[in-house]
Amino acid sequence: MKNNQILRYAVMCSGNGSNLQALIDSSNTGTITASINAIIASKPESGAIKIAKSNNIKNYVLDVRSTELRDISLIKIINELKPDFIVLSGYTKKIPLKLIALYPDKIINIHPSLLPEFGGKGMYGIHVHKAVIESGKSKSGFTVHLVSKEYDKGRKLKQYEVEVLKDDTPESLSLKILELENIYYPIVIQEFIESDLLK
Ligand code: GRF
Repeated sequence: MKNNQILRYAVMCSGNGSNLQALIDSSNTGTITASINAIIASKPESGAIKIAKSNNIKNYVLDVRSTELRDISLIKIINELKPDFIVLSGYTKKIPLKLIALYPDKIINIHPSLLPEFGGKGMYGIHVHKAVIESGKSKSGFTVHLVSKEYDKGRKLKQYEVEVLKDDTPESLSLKILELENIYYPIVIQEFIESDLLK
């Protein structure tokens, strides 16, 4: 709550939207005490847009003809919506510095590795899990963090670990981590809402 108003957040996605669905469910049941005011996707055909439509949530697709147009369209949408904070949920494009400046420590991301390991440019989706398996690490997991100017380097809010088993493949590891993300991302978002970070 801020000034007796329920907090509102925008969710940005590029992919299937399983975390988005978990966030919607949690906002509907009250596990997350803030509501989603819009879903912003970087791809028109993404699962996220289908989910937004079937849940009657306002949705936008960014202008992806160029990075410049994408950034302009994003800032315009955010300035119209004025969410209290922003959640990235499988959003794979770079966040413009202008948006980070407008929402300092108010943009949250989830990354499918134990950052700082296996983060940075090119480390997204199955590439992360392939690199983890190739490295021979016995643990992986996911990290929820605030977005800062440097890719995958903002303040960590939470990390969850999973064991990498000998017979794990990038696909099996990805699934194992995603299942945990779907359970815990909403919980971490609620912890963020209740923290001093939003005050
Ligand atoms: C997740 O693995 C998340 O860590 C990463 O993108 C994936 C999104 O999956 N940032 P989904 O679209 O929520 O199913």
